[in-house]
Amino acid sequence: MQELLVALDVNSRDQALWLADRLRGTVGGFKIGSRLFTTEGPSLVAALADRGDRIFLDLKYHDIPTVVAEAVRAAGRLGTWMLTVHTAGGQAMLSAAAEAAGGLERPPHVVGVTVLTSFDEAELNRVGVSRALGEQVESLAALAVASGLDGIVASPRELGPLRQRLGPGPLIVTPGIRGGAAGVSGGDDQRRTLGPAEALDAGASYLVVGRPIIAAADPLAAAQTIAAACQTGGR
Ligand code: C5P
Repeated sequence: MQELLVALDVNSRDQALWLADRLRGTVGGFKIGSRLFTTEGPSLVAALADRGDRIFLDLKYHDIPTVVAEAVRAAGRLGTWMLTVHTAGGQAMLSAAAEAAGGLERPPHVVGVTVLTSFDEAELNRVGVSRALGEQVESLAALAVASGLDGIVASPRELGPLRQRLGPGPLIVTPGIRGGAAGVSGGDDQRRTLGPAEALDAGASYLVVGRPIIAAADPLAAAQTIAAACQTGGR
């Protein structure tokens, strides 16, 4: 199931390798975020990439354009397949990231984070943004694509409107995958969720699933259930 990416939100290299060894062949890749990267560093990214895994390095780069461009090059040289930048970094930073990726021998996909799922409109207001959250998300997504990014990260709530606005080309990567119909257990901090088939139907290119797989008693069985659920709904 190439569209299913598993978030390796664990603390150690051993746990990450254990999960990857079990899930390889059933899922389409592994997301490494700031938690695991800060603990285990680039050698884990390289180790998994060397095993043939697609690595989604979710470090949400947000810095001046030259620094982000160098970080993108470094990530690409490790064998990263996809990575994130913050779209709030602006057009110059986003274009620099896209150009840096494009110049690599194996260009990683660069996707933009718009507004974090932990934000509501009050929080957006506190950081000086007065327009509605949905408008902010759509406008940053459009900026990302216009600046040359391959796509964006979007929660289930924003998925439909964003696919409509961006058209079929850009990648949309969607976390927040849950739902009884898919046999995935929920009950956590994800505020806006969709089942896997529903998310793909709504326009997601890739799904990011963490705890429903990595915290399951049997992660492989959980991944297989979600992969099977993705096949429903007309695919
Ligand atoms: O919730 P789950 O464990 O499936 O999370 C998978 C990924 O979704 C996390 O690695 C994180 O990047 C993202 N996430 C999010 N909003 C939350 C919780 C997690 O976007 N509230």
